[in-house]
Amino acid sequence: MRTETASDASGLQARELTRDYPTRAEPLRILRGVNLSLARGDALAVTGPSGSGKSTLLHIFGALDRPSGGEVLINGRNPFALTEPELAAFRNREIGFVFQEHYLLPQCSVLENVLVPTIVASDATGVAERARMLLDRIGLANRLDHRPAELSGGERQRVAIARALINRPTLLLCDEPTGNLDRITARSVADVILEMAKAENATLIVVTHSAELAARLPRRMELVEGKLEAAE
Ligand SMILES: Nc1ncnc2c1ncn2[C@@H]1O[C@H](COP(=O)(O)OP(=O)(O)OP(=O)(O)O)[C@@H](O)[C@H]1O
Ligand SMILES: [Mg+2]
Repeated sequence: MRTETASDASGLQARELTRDYPTRAEPLRILRGVNLSLARGDALAVTGPSGSGKSTLLHIFGALDRPSGGEVLINGRNPFALTEPELAAFRNREIGFVFQEHYLLPQCSVLENVLVPTIVASDATGVAERARMLLDRIGLANRLDHRPAELSGGERQRVAIARALINRPTLLLCDEPTGNLDRITARSVADVILEMAKAENATLIVVTHSAELAARLPRRMELVEGKLEAAE
């Protein structure tokens, strides 16, 4: 790994990451030395068996969980050196998440859901226009006032993608984003993720069990026995 300082690195670097979960007996060592270097705008698929630690890894990359050992740098900064309020602001500004479940607020409209992350953002100028632009680009311009219950599964996931992108994150993390969708809908949601990450020049990591989705990303790695290995 290169040893950039905070000012000259962009993208994501991980060095010898480990994550243990305590148990009554020996701690469960899920990540056993993960190394990764992604430049800004790179796109990676991560595959691996259920229970191999993919979500654990993505949560650490998204600074939602702390590693037991090793280092993560996001745009040259170690998020785990920040105070809790600084970390929350960093996450809100730099990182977008898309999960298998959409986690939209049922009582809010499509437009309001996309705007949720801007409530705590330091710069909220022009966010309503940006939300409309994103929803237009993902094909939901005519559904702004609808509630999530009025949308299909694929449409809800599109809204979740727009919400993840609203604060112009530099890192977009997707955990099984098409896991709940039929094959055709999964394909169109994947189209949106790939197109939007590219358009926004975001670094993209997609965790998936779908070989079809993994094959669409330029780089693929597999989590095997706690380490990331190049996959074909
Ligand atoms: N909070 C926790 N406490 C203890 N063990 C945990 C905790 N969270 C996850 N684990 C364990 O860590 C391992 C990895 O879990 P993780 O959710 O990262 O797997 P995954 O690769 O995402 O699996 P899937 O493909 O099923 O989503 C599992 O054995 C799980 O039981
Ligand atoms: Mg998982």
